[in-house]
Amino acid sequence: MSEKVEADRIEYLEALSSSSKLYEKACDIFPNGVTHDLRKYEPFPIYASHAEGGRKWDVDGREYVDLWMGHGSLLLGHCFPDMVDAVGAQVAKGTHYGACHELEVEWGMWVKRLIPTAERVRFTGSGTEATLMALRLARTYTGKRKVLKFIGHFHGWHDNLMIGGLPPFDEPVPAGILKEVAETVALCPPNDIERVEDILGSDPDISCVIVEPTGASFGTIPTRPGFLNELREITRKHDVLLVFDEVITGFRCSPGGAQAHFNISPDLTSLAKVLAGGLPGGALVGRKDILELLEFRGDREWDFCRKMPHQGTFNANPVSAAAGIATLKAIESGEPNRQADKNAEFLRKHLNDVIRTQNVDWAIYGDFSGVKFLPNCGGQEAALASINAGIYDYKKLKGFHPEIGRGFRTAMQLEGVDMNGMAAMTSSAHTAEDLEHVVQAFNATLTRLKSSGLIKA
Ligand SMILES: Cc1ncc(COP(=O)(O)O)c(C=O)c1O
Repeated sequence: MSEKVEADRIEYLEALSSSSKLYEKACDIFPNGVTHDLRKYEPFPIYASHAEGGRKWDVDGREYVDLWMGHGSLLLGHCFPDMVDAVGAQVAKGTHYGACHELEVEWGMWVKRLIPTAERVRFTGSGTEATLMALRLARTYTGKRKVLKFIGHFHGWHDNLMIGGLPPFDEPVPAGILKEVAETVALCPPNDIERVEDILGSDPDISCVIVEPTGASFGTIPTRPGFLNELREITRKHDVLLVFDEVITGFRCSPGGAQAHFNISPDLTSLAKVLAGGLPGGALVGRKDILELLEFRGDREWDFCRKMPHQGTFNANPVSAAAGIATLKAIESGEPNRQADKNAEFLRKHLNDVIRTQNVDWAIYGDFSGVKFLPNCGGQEAALASINAGIYDYKKLKGFHPEIGRGFRTAMQLEGVDMNGMAAMTSSAHTAEDLEHVVQAFNATLTRLKSSGLIKA
């Protein structure tokens, strides 16, 4: 470890002593001291105390421009006032009725109104549950066993779809997942339509293809232009269902998600995050004749071998419904989506300018409200062209950059910006001042990384 890396580490330890103390306690409770893999951080993570708009604060009283935005669930920023009022009012009226309620109907109506292919809606507890339901419904509907998924695309942490979702991609089956399950997952490199055609043409047991429409992890491996249309055509030709996982893109890329933006109709769509306005919740939506398999009807009554069973204590929870309705109402106009996109575009442009001025081999890319940081890109201009064409080495785009990544995050946090590793997401609540702060913080961070020897001066 260089002296300067060590100096940044010491500065971090001193600046965040209250977080450090909490982490010590947490390590005695949680594996690695954390409750989500992505929150593991060395020497320790920051502990947040409160948040508002585009900012959050930690228990040491330090302020950050927040580019995590609730793992992408806060398109309107922290504490969007109508959401706060709606949630407060609902908490006072009851947090769980163990019964149907008016807000679930209203929430479902908003989903149907905004998402073009939502003929039917079923709420779930999370995005993971929504993609799990997509697979099981696809198997029930088609009588086929397998799913085709794209390497690097993340669809939650249940058995089938964890496979090939995270680096290192050469060993795609994570710990604890049965080889028998892995045999039901056909992995395909992202953007490779010939390979999709090969798999669907040679394996009659594929029930569905699932895809993050703008690419793995909200465009970290971007989908190349034209790919989604080709995928729609090929899946129709082979009589295979197409599932859009819009857990991130839904209500974010546009009020109607990526499917409205690209004008493509998947058969099923998973939703979460923005759907529930920053509270827990998800949904699977799509074709009526497929979601009908969730129904008790006629000779299917109580026949769980033919009707797909589905329960879940927190499905359509009234507090999540209140937050979701307030959020979807605000998004209907599309203005928050446009503002969040504009904020990300500003960052992509100005951060790339900083890179050129500092003369380092990095590139910033992304689309919609996403901002991705790629170190050692092999020449900014060429990298951006090949990333946008969908031909850049996807393993590099969604690889780990352990040392640079850690140094980068430490420096950005010391400069007052927090984000998900090398990826950021904007909201409509980020102000011009927030964005300027990020640009300055990035400039100072590159200077720190140069002087620590983590990147070439
Ligand atoms: C595209 C996508 N699908 C599914 C999930 C899983 O959603 P959840 O974390 O709500 O289970 C995520 C979570 O980040 C996601 O990004």
